Amino acid sequence: MSQRIFIGVAWPYANGSLHLGHIAGAYLPADIFARYHRLKGNEVLMVSGSDQHGTPITLRAEQEGRKPQEIADKYHQEFLDCWHRLGISFDLFTTTSTPNHVQVAQDFFLALLNKGYIYRDFMSLLYCPSCQRYLPDRYVEGTCPYCYFGGARGDQCDKCGKPFGPLELLEPRCSICGSTPQIKSSEHFFLRLSAFQDELLSWARQQTHWRQNVLNFTTRLLEEVKDRAITRDIDWGVPIPQPGFDDKRLYVWFEAVIGYLSASKEWAHLIGDNERWRLFWQGEAKSYYFIGKDNINFHTIIWPAMLIGYGELDLPYDVPANEFLTLEGKQLSTSRNWAVWLPDYLEHYDPDPLRYFLSANMPEVGDTDFSWQEFVRRNNDELVATYGNLVHRVLTFIQRNFQSSVPIPGEFDESSEVLLHKAEVTLNSVDACLNNCRFREGIKAAMSLAQEGNRYLEQKSPWKRIKEDRQACATTLYVSLIVISCLKTVLCPFLPFSSQKLHNLLGFSGRVEQMGWTIQPLTPGQKLPPAEPLFHKLDESTVTKEALQLKAAIEK
Ligand code: MF3
Ligand code: ZN
Repeated sequence: MSQRIFIGVAWPYANGSLHLGHIAGAYLPADIFARYHRLKGNEVLMVSGSDQHGTPITLRAEQEGRKPQEIADKYHQEFLDCWHRLGISFDLFTTTSTPNHVQVAQDFFLALLNKGYIYRDFMSLLYCPSCQRYLPDRYVEGTCPYCYFGGARGDQCDKCGKPFGPLELLEPRCSICGSTPQIKSSEHFFLRLSAFQDELLSWARQQTHWRQNVLNFTTRLLEEVKDRAITRDIDWGVPIPQPGFDDKRLYVWFEAVIGYLSASKEWAHLIGDNERWRLFWQGEAKSYYFIGKDNINFHTIIWPAMLIGYGELDLPYDVPANEFLTLEGKQLSTSRNWAVWLPDYLEHYDPDPLRYFLSANMPEVGDTDFSWQEFVRRNNDELVATYGNLVHRVLTFIQRNFQSSVPIPGEFDESSEVLLHKAEVTLNSVDACLNNCRFREGIKAAMSLAQEGNRYLEQKSPWKRIKEDRQACATTLYVSLIVISCLKTVLCPFLPFSSQKLHNLLGFSGRVEQMGWTIQPLTPGQKLPPAEPLFHKLDESTVTKEALQLKAAIEK
């Protein structure tokens, strides 16, 4: 029976380019999952958008002497271009600046206010006397009161992930001018998280299918959950729909998570079926949220609390948060420019080798590393030498010896039967891995079929036997084609560009995504187009070239 799958992906701040950490953390796993479900015939809605409000955007705008909207627009365009080139197949990638989002966010706020889940209170805040402004979130830096990390911000620590208020920060300083801030009182709105503690705890404890780290982190935080301010002293963001708060805005996180709902409504409107979003929010759909581990708290506590408070909307089914990707053994850092930026990557290399590398090294259970050396090795030894080579050897052999048409097989011998069985098993095991968001294991299972295929071909050596036993060679090649057809399907969610290419090389027309999760059969005698390699070897000099570039970038 066909299922409905809602996929929400973290909304990237539109204040800078995407890097490989973002891709490995959220966008790639979400896309693999979406493509898998579409192939299975399920109805998928995958949404996200650029997060255009809050201090990340205003700080950047101030640094560059530009307007926040200019910064946001520039990066939004860049994101769209990156999704297209990397093959991240959103059903809608919108922004938090749309009138629709502003309206949905304000309605959500009012509904919670009317139900008493949002209340007003005065709070002490940090104020910079020399800049003469309040210092929300990223405008203040200091030491984390929990783990003593020195670069914590006013709203949370990126090291240990604990949320807190600005006054808890140790040794705070204004991130613009470095002065020590004063304490001033200001009126704000608070989300009554404490009211949801029991319900959320018992809900979370039932989510035994969640990743262990997500579950542990969530229950630990829930045990000490406190009400949180959801408005800020800032002039950039969604206005607060209450009189007397003109110089304040909704907190970017409170408003951004509502984006999942507003984007779903926008999508429904765009497809001309205004109520269709309900099928993904009020019913049998399963909703998945793909995020990095620094966003867990907002997706497993705050957003669920807001959903319960609002009522009649489904809670997340799973939040498969990833750990971090390091680069050449060191933590990625935007400020120190220690990153591989996605637009740079896409300018020089194909999308599938990156998708392959990051799938095979996905930081699902612990941090993993990207290094150019490993990237080149995996491309050359695995994509080119294992998968690509299997395909190319088979197709060129058929072209030369079987007039470019699918050979007519004879009876299958035992090793052929064993391999065909392994293809069936692989189809099922990759299916189960993807269904459970175990991407690394999935691509590993797929690649092990490619290895088996090579071993089989090697053992049969049709190139040695073509003169003496043409029929046996025809069978070998036919069986190899079936294996390749299976690889085309199971690798399609991971490597959509090469699967499409392979789909055409196997003589099929149309879009590979529409073929379903099956081993598409080949008709003996069917014509095949001229063979072409699926992947290209990367020169070893790539490693030194890229290493020098990385070094030059941090020294700038
Ligand atoms: N903009 C945030 C970040 O980059 C993520 C927001 S996810 C959302 O860390 F759900 F709140 F939108
Ligand atoms: Zn200051």
